[in-house]
Amino acid sequence: KAGAEQPAAGPRAPVLLAAPSKAPCKPAVFIPVDRSPEIQEARLKLPILAEEQVVMEAINDNPIVIICGETGSGKTTQVPQFLYEAGYARDSILGKTCIIGITEPRRVAAVSMSQRVAKEMNLSHRVVSYQIRYEGNVTDETQIKFVTDGVLLKEIQKDFLLSKYKVIIIDEAHERSMYTDILIGLLSRIVPLRHKKGLPLKLIIMSATLRVEDFTANTRLFSAQPPVIQVDARQFPVTVHFNKKTPLDDYSGECFRKVCKIHRMLPAGGILVFLTGQAEVHSLCRRLRKAFPYQKNNTQCKVTCVPLLMCCFHLPSLSQTLPKIDLNNYSVLPPDEGDEDRDIDSDDDAAGSDLDLDLGDGDSEGDEKSDSSLPLYVLPLYSLLAPEKQAKVFRPPPPGTRLCVVATNVAETSLTIPGIKYVVDSGREKRRCYDRITGVSSFRVTWVSQASADQRAGRAGRTEPGHCYRLYSSAVFMDFEKFSAPEITKRPVEDLILQMKALNIEKVINFPFPTPPPTEALAAAEELLIALGALKEPPTTGRLNQQLAAKLSCPISPLGRVMATFPVAPRYAKMLALSRQHQCLPYTITIVSAMTVRELFEELDRPAGSEEEAAQLKGRRARFLQMQKVWAGQGPMQKLGDLMVMLGAVGACEYSGCTQEFCEQNGLRHKAMLEIRRLRGQLTTAVNSVCRDAGLYVDPKMKPPTEAQVTYLRQIVLAGLGDHLARRVQAEELLDDKWKNAYKTALLEDPVFIHPSSVLFKELPEFVVYQEIVETTKLYMKGVSAVEPEWIPALLPAYCHFGKPLESPPPSYCPGTGRVHCHRPSVFYRVGWQLPAVEVD
Ligand code: CDP
Ligand code: MG
Repeated sequence: KAGAEQPAAGPRAPVLLAAPSKAPCKPAVFIPVDRSPEIQEARLKLPILAEEQVVMEAINDNPIVIICGETGSGKTTQVPQFLYEAGYARDSILGKTCIIGITEPRRVAAVSMSQRVAKEMNLSHRVVSYQIRYEGNVTDETQIKFVTDGVLLKEIQKDFLLSKYKVIIIDEAHERSMYTDILIGLLSRIVPLRHKKGLPLKLIIMSATLRVEDFTANTRLFSAQPPVIQVDARQFPVTVHFNKKTPLDDYSGECFRKVCKIHRMLPAGGILVFLTGQAEVHSLCRRLRKAFPYQKNNTQCKVTCVPLLMCCFHLPSLSQTLPKIDLNNYSVLPPDEGDEDRDIDSDDDAAGSDLDLDLGDGDSEGDEKSDSSLPLYVLPLYSLLAPEKQAKVFRPPPPGTRLCVVATNVAETSLTIPGIKYVVDSGREKRRCYDRITGVSSFRVTWVSQASADQRAGRAGRTEPGHCYRLYSSAVFMDFEKFSAPEITKRPVEDLILQMKALNIEKVINFPFPTPPPTEALAAAEELLIALGALKEPPTTGRLNQQLAAKLSCPISPLGRVMATFPVAPRYAKMLALSRQHQCLPYTITIVSAMTVRELFEELDRPAGSEEEAAQLKGRRARFLQMQKVWAGQGPMQKLGDLMVMLGAVGACEYSGCTQEFCEQNGLRHKAMLEIRRLRGQLTTAVNSVCRDAGLYVDPKMKPPTEAQVTYLRQIVLAGLGDHLARRVQAEELLDDKWKNAYKTALLEDPVFIHPSSVLFKELPEFVVYQEIVETTKLYMKGVSAVEPEWIPALLPAYCHFGKPLESPPPSYCPGTGRVHCHRPSVFYRVGWQLPAVEVD
């Protein structure tokens, strides 16, 4: 078989940590593949080809095998082909087709790898297919299937034994994405179960680094230590150049200057630049194209002028009675009809909340015109880029040009771009960071780990000796963390726990995590899910430790099943689940999208460079404040507060056609608005795919909500953000001045305040819910909306205690009038919230 021939440059002998089998295994079947001579030639150069025999023997002899090999050694593209040829896509007994499944943490990789493998094997996309969230080309004939890890998790929810699969390959395991970790934990149980049933499933874990102890040395995970096969990649030397100084802010500008220098002064060879996010990638691409034009692709923006009033929501007048939503009406969808994938955030640059304001790169471009005659063929690469545009990076650049790919960390290990000789590394990546106080995530640009920086450098030495330019000093590099910690240890896990409960894994604490999350994180997640109604309440009788144990093993509730089908965090999922009522879905989808994107509004308080600019900013600010009032509406509308402003802003912006001009005039960030539009489309599709009769259609425009709908929306928001409830400290409760106008929250001892940018800043409603707390000079609540006190016992029963007031006295700042029926030791009692007595049936 051609595949078994040695490539020209012989790599080192593989390390097989397990005892090798006695006799070389002969494949029982051999399925011929018709590859073109060019493909065959290229394959033979891949280091993994030399190991085919070893790999296949190990897989034959062991249920679980780990393969480690440098990026580019051929793991992702070749191992599925080895398996296909050896008949793993056929059931030898029944003679029907089975599936070889490969999981990728990134959507980009799943799509592009399936296309590549189909091409190499000369098979159609009907046979080598992919499935990512909301998108895929899987058919009944599919035999090799690339999926994102979130998709496979979803499939396990439907068919725990994954009976259609004969092999599961977990790719990029070194990235330690949360879903990858969970999949490995689940598969460690599924593999023996399948073995017992006489339908063995093979598990192959592939990693670009040799750091696999968490999988091999973890006896809770695998009873027998799986063998590790090491594939040595042919790597040419890469000279690493550190910057003397480390630019603190303008690393994008530094990248630009470095690329210009390389292009003007150094010999031929592709350039790969690592930046942090989509916005930065595009902005650098624009600058480089302008400096070294290859083709004119400046499309003129069309300007549409829409009169102000047409862009605003029309606000009807106040109605007297406040309607109520029904907490038990969450039948948004038939629970068994799951959607395809829920990992809205599975790509690190995908959620794309680009916080960088990225305004000023236009100014300096003009004076950087190059005199180099060789055009630069500049291509962007990031997760959300359309697949056909991504595929461009694998093709040779047009003759007479130099390839320059500006990428996020997708190019670090998932994709190998041919012909790269120079790497320009900004040393940063965009990471999702979680606020310990509020659990709300945000994207922050941070330094990468040393391991990542080395991976990036390695991209330069794939085809010949290369150079890596690190835009930071070696001292800064020494301060980088060695490896990044697994994702699961760094983030709140309520969404994960909900998914696991949906898999009927009740005792989450006993789950064989490769690296377990902290117990407090697990407990906090269960508590939140119980309060949201996603899990069934644990018993409150019995011994304390029994109660505690029960608390960590609550089964999922019907509402929880509905929530688990939405690709958003549980708090937001609850809002969506309740929103079928009164046609609130389009509005909730918009609010949830806007809250996910954040930073909708332009920073108009920034210091101005000149008097002219200062005057301009002042004008825009005045205009923004005027618009903010319009968007917030009047009367009862206003009480939805900042969320109404978000809704109004998005509504108005969409009526204007979402143009740059409209955004600029009205203080909106155009990029954020486009992102919201995209997320709304995705969420609408998600709701439709599980709820066919919802009949929502993806049209960014929507009619303004009615007043009654706004009231329902306030209740829906309260039901989702219940643990983010805050109550203004009343005059008689004032301890000292620092509590003036302050709010008490369930999660913090300190006073928090409504953020001055909030429309409710002056209103100071007694009860509010907030989206997040930010800390600047004080602790400020952002995304605030007002709550009617009588809704609390009705909509947040889990946070209330109905009956006699608790015996122990409330904290001293609260006089405790004894008229309440509403507190639970956990939340309300602690902050001494005293609700007016209400009739509860
Ligand atoms: O998974 P691993 O990083 O070990 O390697 P791979 O992704 O299987 O890539 C093997 C080779 O195929 C690399 O040299 C890539 O450049 C090449 N490849 C390609 O030319 N076009 C693609 N769409 C994907 C991979
Ligand atoms: Mg790979």
